[in-house]
Formats: sequence, C-alpha cells, structure tokens
Amino acid sequence: MSRPLLQLALDHTSLQAVQRDVALLADHVDIVEAGTILCLTEGLQAVRALREQCPDKIIVADWKVADAGETLAQQAFGAGANWMTIICAAPLATVEKGHDVAQRCGGEIQMELFGNWTLDDARAWYRTGVRQAIYHRGRDAQASGQQWGEADLARMKALSDIGLQLSVTGGITPADLPLFKQINVKAFIAGRALAGAENPPQVAQAFHSQIRDIWGE
Ligand code: 5RP
Repeated sequence: MSRPLLQLALDHTSLQAVQRDVALLADHVDIVEAGTILCLTEGLQAVRALREQCPDKIIVADWKVADAGETLAQQAFGAGANWMTIICAAPLATVEKGHDVAQRCGGEIQMELFGNWTLDDARAWYRTGVRQAIYHRGRDAQASGQQWGEADLARMKALSDIGLQLSVTGGITPADLPLFKQINVKAFIAGRALAGAENPPQVAQAFHSQIRDIWGE
C-alpha cells in the first residue's frame, strides 16, 4: 500500500479567503482543490487563481460534472487543473468525453461517488480508462448523522479490486484515519478540518503524523 497524500479542499465563498488559507497551507499539503462551492461562487477564475498561487501543486477542479464532459473538461484543464471530477450519476458518454480531453491535456478524471452507483458502473468507468474515484460522505449526509461503517470499507475494497485509485472525503479529521487502515487510499481530502482550524498547519501536521503512523514513511 502506498502512503496516502493529503488534499486541501477549498469550499470558501470568497477567493480572497481562499488565497489567505492557501498561503498558510500550501506547503503542508500535496494537492489543492478548487471546491464545488468555491467554483460555483467564483467561477473558472478560482482554478486559474489556484494554479497561479500554487504553480507546482496538483490542482483539482471539483466540478462534479454531470453533462457536457468535453466542454467542461476543456475549461478545467485549460484553466490549469490537473484533475477534474465527474459525478457518478453522469452518463457514460460524459465520462468518456471528459476522459478523452483529460488524456489530451495530460490530466485525469475522478469519479465522485455520492448516493446511487454500482460496482458495474465502476467497472464501466474503468473500461473507459478512468483510474480514480472519490469515496464521498456528503456534508449534508454527515450533518444528518451518517457515520463511516463496515459497508463503506467493503465498497472501498471492492473499488480498489476493480483497479480504481480511491480518495476519501467527507468531514475527515486526523482522528478518523485509523478507520481506513486496511484501505489503499490515494488521498485524504479535507476541507473544514484544515481551512476551518484555529491553527491550520498544526492540523495538517496531525494528518501527516497519522498517515505516517498507519501507512509508514
Ligand atoms: C463537498 C466536497 C468537499 O470539498 C469535501 O468533502 C471536503 O470537505 P470537508 O472536509 O469540509 O467535508 O467535495 O461536496
């Protein structure tokens, strides 16, 4: 199992606030995400600004694309994203179109797993050439009490067996990481735990220290 990376999700409603938090955290994370909330508020400029502020980081456009895969992938990768998310409910044609553009731009598509999807869907995504998925506990589901459970872990393992690299997100804190010790995690994606912290670099270090303790150096 490789050591999971740490991804900072930026779900702010102001680019100025994002830039302040990125200045504090960029050196402490591996991947920087222009979150859905930020992109809906600030538009494509959010991705461009993160690319400018973090020239050497992997940048994710978390757009949860449901249609127009080709056009939106051109926009995301053209603005400087390395990875773009597509929602699991999207038609396979959207996944194929997005993936084609990603390949031409040297980028990657990540499937966002919310709500209803099946392992047959996952096999179909894999056949298109997509290699990444995000296992997601939505913030509304979390707020209404949804906990991580054995069923999640079993589905994560099944996705890994199909060949998909998995990132995990949804209210993740350093204390949650031991739950996932049997899972081959590409990245833990944290938003509020990092950006909302009193001392964000200290929380990032707590993530890294847990990751090292569980998955090794
Ligand atoms: C919401 C998202 C978030 O960016 C992601 O879940 C991380 O945020 P948090 O750690 O605050 O839950 O994609 O749809």
